[in-house]
Amino acid sequence: MNKAIIFDLDGVIVDTAKYHYLAWRKIALDLGFDFSEVQNEMLKGVSRVQSLEFLLESGNIQLPQARKDELLHAKNQHYLSLISDMDASEMLEGIPQLLQDLRQHQVPFALGSASKNARLILDSLNLTDWFTAIVDGNEVTQAKPDPEVFLIAAQKLGYKPEDCIVVEDSQAGIQAANAVGMTSVGIGSKEVLYESQFLLENTAQLTFEFLKEL
Ligand code: BG6
Ligand code: MG
Repeated sequence: MNKAIIFDLDGVIVDTAKYHYLAWRKIALDLGFDFSEVQNEMLKGVSRVQSLEFLLESGNIQLPQARKDELLHAKNQHYLSLISDMDASEMLEGIPQLLQDLRQHQVPFALGSASKNARLILDSLNLTDWFTAIVDGNEVTQAKPDPEVFLIAAQKLGYKPEDCIVVEDSQAGIQAANAVGMTSVGIGSKEVLYESQFLLENTAQLTFEFLKEL
């Protein structure tokens, strides 16, 4: 296998997507409107700041920047409390085996996440040392669907974009990978991830054998 893999974190390596949703929904409810799981698909892969903009738009609410800053802080505090006991058991099905197989076959892999909490999460999962490169929300200036995060990851891996396979659960992430000619593998439903080149229902199907064939 002469390709490298770039993994998204939330919803691909670990099941944190549900905690992001719970934390955003609480913000919405506190502001007086509900926020559905379907609406939440728009927030997946998107930066914290951009997520708040989408959320406020969906509730038709305009706020001054100082109030937005408070909400961003509150969302993150709630999110951090939800993930405070996280450990390796919360990795998604098949991921521990896949990472072992990639390592055994010396296939390099990187993290390409929008989250500013990515390193904290990798540490909780004891995974930090497993990645050849880690690029997270602290390193990018543009949020997905901009491909910046994946381009930096490819550069750190020393691979051309066309030799990278991106695994993503968000529409924004799939668009980012496609935009720079990376192979995109979507994890989730075809209603959301119809732009992905390859689609799997869940991470249990994301095996080394599958990636090797791409
Ligand atoms: C992405 C998630 O990985 O990270 C989004 O899919 C989240 O839901 C984004 O908003 C930013 O995360 P954080 O941890 O920096 O708020
Ligand atoms: Mg994700």
